[in-house]
Amino acid sequence: MSETKKLFIKTYGCQMNVYDSERMAEALGSKGYVQTEKQEEADMILLNTCHIREKAAEKVYSELGRLKPLKDVNPNLKIGVAGCVAQAEGQEIMRRAPVVDLVVGPQTYHRLPDMETAIQSGAKALDTDFPEEDKFAILNKTRAKAKRGPTAFLTVQEGCDKFCAFCVVPYTRGAEVSRPKDRILAEARDLVEAGVREITLLGQNVNAYHGHDKGLAGLIWDLAEIDGLDRIRFTTSHPNDMDDALIEAHGTCEKLMPYLHLPVQSGSDKILKAMNRKHTRDDYFRLIDRIRGARPDLVLSGDFIVGFPGETDQDFEDTMDLIRQVNYGMAFTFKYSTRPGTPAAEKPQLPDDLMDARLQELQALITKQQRDTQDSMVGREVNVLFEKKGRMAGQLIGKTEYLHACYVEAPEEALGKIHKVRIKESGPNSLGGVLV
Ligand code: 5AD
Ligand code: SF4
Repeated sequence: MSETKKLFIKTYGCQMNVYDSERMAEALGSKGYVQTEKQEEADMILLNTCHIREKAAEKVYSELGRLKPLKDVNPNLKIGVAGCVAQAEGQEIMRRAPVVDLVVGPQTYHRLPDMETAIQSGAKALDTDFPEEDKFAILNKTRAKAKRGPTAFLTVQEGCDKFCAFCVVPYTRGAEVSRPKDRILAEARDLVEAGVREITLLGQNVNAYHGHDKGLAGLIWDLAEIDGLDRIRFTTSHPNDMDDALIEAHGTCEKLMPYLHLPVQSGSDKILKAMNRKHTRDDYFRLIDRIRGARPDLVLSGDFIVGFPGETDQDFEDTMDLIRQVNYGMAFTFKYSTRPGTPAAEKPQLPDDLMDARLQELQALITKQQRDTQDSMVGREVNVLFEKKGRMAGQLIGKTEYLHACYVEAPEEALGKIHKVRIKESGPNSLGGVLV
């Protein structure tokens, strides 16, 4: 092993990037890197970027501008750009930002150790291929088995074939690829051995997973067989890929948690069609009914875009109406953002102030539903997986099966374990409860 060097990773965007950052840190671990929280002391800084909404590239360039002085102080500092902006604009980044030593896309970061060797000799390294080899298989050979917290992400699927008219994912992450189930099961077992009790399966379109002959549901049932793994979640899903087996699993698989992120984006049939979502609002309502039929207490979460090109007041009202009817426990709301190269980018855009006004109205409704869902937990008994110490002495914080954060007075031995808790109060962002 070479001498210890410090690695600082700044992660933007979704949970898949959080997972990738972890794996990049592991890959560079083989070159003697340990992670640091302080960028001033780093020998290498990696920006793991996201390209989903506009100004992504600009944000990266301004961050690189802020990092430049660190390189003046420490000439040995190496700076790298990873993730979806790297994938989309690698060459341009190298050209425009001379502080950058390394550019690596989401499919090639298993090659980071070799790239690191190259940049140490003063070269620049760029790799945004879509290679044949499986990065995860290569990375697993050196995966550290250090003890870890009770929750973990596990990427099972990458890319997307849905081509929603607004979305860059099919272009930046490429076609849908599922990891073979045996590799996922092996990784899950390793995680459990390292202390993990809850795994969230990740994919840009995770319920399109087909690395198992029985699809995502088959994978979930196989994972449920692992002793010591108590909770399974998955995100993020497309309504058209919620098959019967997956819906049924929500009712019958005890380890599958009663929380589902199922974005619909809009409640207007006209906009859904223009978005190329390939389903109607009625299809979505029927689907939700079936899922709730299988698991009545399931908490639903969604994503909504306001101001998609052509969205009228009536279309927006249809979205508000859909939200009122479905009742979300959580939702992410976005202002439509033009992504060059996507079909919707060709269409006339709506004025910004109109989008802002709609976003505000939508957010107010979602905030109320979130709060009501959380408040409805008061008086109930839930199960909390304790993840860390709270701010106050003697207090632990964890998540309920419905993904609400919950503070409880509990002994430290409870960390990493699941306990029954009676909910006593509901604050702005979390619940408070007592051990039963
Ligand atoms: N503009 C606004 N929101 C977008 N999303 C994806 N692309 C765009 C875009 N161009 C949102 C969708 C998706 C979430 C991850 O990001 O709601 O579900
Ligand atoms: Fe993008 Fe999701 Fe649509 Fe795929 S399903 S194109 S990732 S919004």
